[in-house]
Parts: sequence; C-alpha cells; structure tokens
Amino acid sequence: MIEKSMRQYLTDNPRLKYIFFGGKGGVGKTVLAGTGALWMAGQGKQTLLASTNPVHSLSSMLGQNVFGKPTPVTGVPNLQAYEIDTKDTIEKSKKEIREKIEWFLKFAEIKTKADEFVESATMNPAFEESAMFENMIDLMFDDEYEAYVFDTAPTANARRLLGMSSVYSLWVNKMVQSREEAMTLKDLLSYSKKKQQRDPLMEYLLNLRERMGRAKELLTDAALTSFFFIALPEALPIAVITRFINWFAEFGIPVGGVIVNMLIDTASVGPDTPDFVKNRVAMQAEHMETIWREFDGMVRALLPLYETEVRGTPMLKRMADQLFA
Ligand SMILES: Nc1ncnc2c1ncn2[C@@H]1O[C@H](COP(=O)(O)OP(=O)(O)OP(=O)(O)O)[C@@H](O)[C@H]1O
Ligand SMILES: [Mg+2]
Repeated sequence: MIEKSMRQYLTDNPRLKYIFFGGKGGVGKTVLAGTGALWMAGQGKQTLLASTNPVHSLSSMLGQNVFGKPTPVTGVPNLQAYEIDTKDTIEKSKKEIREKIEWFLKFAEIKTKADEFVESATMNPAFEESAMFENMIDLMFDDEYEAYVFDTAPTANARRLLGMSSVYSLWVNKMVQSREEAMTLKDLLSYSKKKQQRDPLMEYLLNLRERMGRAKELLTDAALTSFFFIALPEALPIAVITRFINWFAEFGIPVGGVIVNMLIDTASVGPDTPDFVKNRVAMQAEHMETIWREFDGMVRALLPLYETEVRGTPMLKRMADQLFA
C-alpha cells in the first residue's frame, strides 16, 4: 500500500526545487522527468526541464527541438526544456584548462608544451562527467527558475556526479594547500623580489571549492532537493535502486521515494490472454512483493505500462494524472 503518494510528498515539501529521477537504463527516467516537470509547471512554478545527459532524448520525447538553449514547451505554460550542448561545454573546459596549464608551466619555468598535460587532464570519462556536473550546478546557481527537473545520466553516473562534490572539495583543499606551499617556496627562492602576481590556478581552485560547497549545500537540503528512483517490477532495476538508495544515504542526499513504472494492468488479463502476458504478470506480481518489502513506506506511485511509448505532451499529461493521482 502507498503510505505517502507523490502528490502528498510534494504537498508536504512545498519548497522542493531540484527534482531528479534515477534508475537503471531504460526504466523511464526521461519520461518521468518530463511528467514531473509538466506537473510542477502546472502548479504555477516557472520550471526548467534540463538534460545533462550526453545522450539527449528530451527533444524526441517532446516532439520539438530543445537543444542548446532553454526553449518554451509548446502548449505548456511555465515550462521550458533544455538539452545542454555537452560538446560545447567540454570544448570550453578544455580551453580553460589549457590556459591554466600554460600559465602554470610558465610560472614553474617548465619548458614543456602544454599539450601532453592537457590531453591527460581531459582524455578521461571523469572529465566529461565533471563538465556535466558543472553545467548542472551553473543552472542551479543562475537561479532563473522556481523548479528544476533534471534528466540525469543513467545508473552509476548520477551518484558519481554527486559523490564528486565531496571528492572535489577534498581534492581542491589539497591542491590549494600545495599551491600555497609552492608560492611561498618560490618567493623564498626568487632573487628578483618580483611583486606577488595574480595566480589564476589558485583563483580557479578557490572558486571551484566555493562552488562545490554551495552545490553540496543545495543538493543535500531535503527541503529543496529530492531524488526519486524508478523501479520496474523486475529483478535488475530493483537491485540497482537498492544500491542507489544506500549510496545516497551515505552522501546525505535526500531520497524522495520510489516510483514503480510499467506495471501490466491485471484487469486486462483474462482466460484468453496469451501465456506470454500471463507469465509476465505473474513475474511482476512476485517482484512487487519485493518492492513493497524493500521499499517499505517509500513507494510513491504505481504507473501502468501504456499501449504505446510515452511521447508528446498529451501523453505526458496522462502520465502526470496517474503519477499525481
Ligand atoms: N509506463 C510506460 N508505458 C509505456 N512506455 C513507457 C512507459 N514508461 C516509459 N516508456 C517508454 O520506455 C522507453 C524508455 O523510457 P525513457 O527513455 O524515459 O527511459 P530512460 O530511463 O530515460 O532511458 P535511458 O537510461 O536510456 O535514458 C521510452 O520509449 C518510453 O516512451
Ligand atoms: Mg533517458
């Protein structure tokens, strides 16, 4: 039984501003982000539905191009959708890092080309993820909307993104400390008492630390932020979110609850129903027992498997009616 519905949860948390949907690949994160955003907009809040996922699907779900800039969603007041241009962000970050590294090499009087350093700093998946994370927090800091619904990257990435904010601040603290030591040493060693110059690397690190700290504050504030996890009545999607919920608890990231998606309507099953469907219904019933047991008190909604995929705002409205029944 649902103890607290999605509608009740949002009523109890009227200041909720940053909403996330997580879960295994293909469980319905994008359509639920769309559904949630539609509902928030319907509550009169200026809402942004944003995808920080390098593989975008908002445009295809909405049937309109929302790539590259926040775009009003046709026929839905108060709602804008935005697929962030990840390539552009990555290029910008690379350029920024190159400048920092070039400055540093000059400062340290190292006669090496920056290229190698730039390559090793940017040719890894964590770089792309951190660029996405920065995109997301930039949107949050701009604070131009009353509600944000994020369509996050699948599975482990979402948690890693957030885990990163803690790791970042540890790393940055360490870097700042080494930089301070290096500066002092250089001052001691320099014959020509040149005036202390601006240190862009240090400025960058301090700024990063400040931003990460602010992001963490917002993302761990249960009045403002909620992660909802999507389960299908199947073994793997359940296992994935069980793990997520534990990880998130560790980081102090607020979990809003669990939404069960793609339940086959048992009312449509009769004696003439093919075995294939009957088997799937039986399988779902079994996994539902696990869901009720494992996510006791956390299930917020049960959503049916529709006869078609979820595309276009009329279909999202239909889903919203059920999510917020
Ligand atoms: N309740 C439902 N009934 C029917 N189709 C659904 C339902 N929920 C989602 N779908 C469809 O399932 C597919 C996967 O949904 P969606 O793209 O939202 O998943 P996702 O978790 O975002 O996937 P990815 O991990 O690839 O980003 C889509 O075609 C979507 O329209
Ligand atoms: Mg998706």
